[in-house]
Amino acid sequence: MNQDIEKVLITKDNIQQKCQEIGEGLTKEYMDKFPLAIGVLKGAMPFMSDVLRYVDTYIEMDFMDVSSYGGEMKSSGEVKIVKDLDTKVEGRDIIILEDIIDSGLTLSYLVDLFKYRKAKSIKIVTLLDKPEGRTVDIKADIVGFQVPNEFVVGYGLDYQEKYRNLPYIGVLKPRVYKGEE
Ligand code: PRP
Ligand code: MN
Ligand code: MG
Repeated sequence: MNQDIEKVLITKDNIQQKCQEIGEGLTKEYMDKFPLAIGVLKGAMPFMSDVLRYVDTYIEMDFMDVSSYGGEMKSSGEVKIVKDLDTKVEGRDIIILEDIIDSGLTLSYLVDLFKYRKAKSIKIVTLLDKPEGRTVDIKADIVGFQVPNEFVVGYGLDYQEKYRNLPYIGVLKPRVYKGEE
């Protein structure tokens, strides 16, 4: 285990099993469609990659890079588009893949944007949901796991760009971010 991790909240096996469950569900739901899966970089990368391996029907992938945390523990409240989609959203069935919904700012910004761009339907799929963090009213359609109000890292989630590569979700030892809160 990484030396900066205090405890593992969700194991690699739990995550992989959930990805399979979600991917198979999406396969059934979109069997006769050609949805556009949108991964929200960078955090959603491992989750999107694992979920889509279990989607056994036609699906297109694209990515959007938005950032609201800028290396901080708390969201700045301002969402910035770092990279936009290459694909037209109009008339498409959209599946947004996220690693976590915390304040909800990132997703509510994206949902508004895709509505404005005339998506036919929008589904929000998130690995983690932290309901206690919410400052705007938004709910995911599919949630992998609920997490407590702690700063979690791993499997796409970073602290200062570290830990995204861990195969599990864990809580950092306080000494790692001591004096920065
Ligand atoms: C994190 C996370 C979500 C978002 C959730 O991304 O990956 O996208 O914040 O927080 P919110 O619900 O409060 O908006 P971040 O902006 O840190 O960029 P990253 O994915 O590149 O780490
Ligand atoms: Mn993110
Ligand atoms: Mg981040």
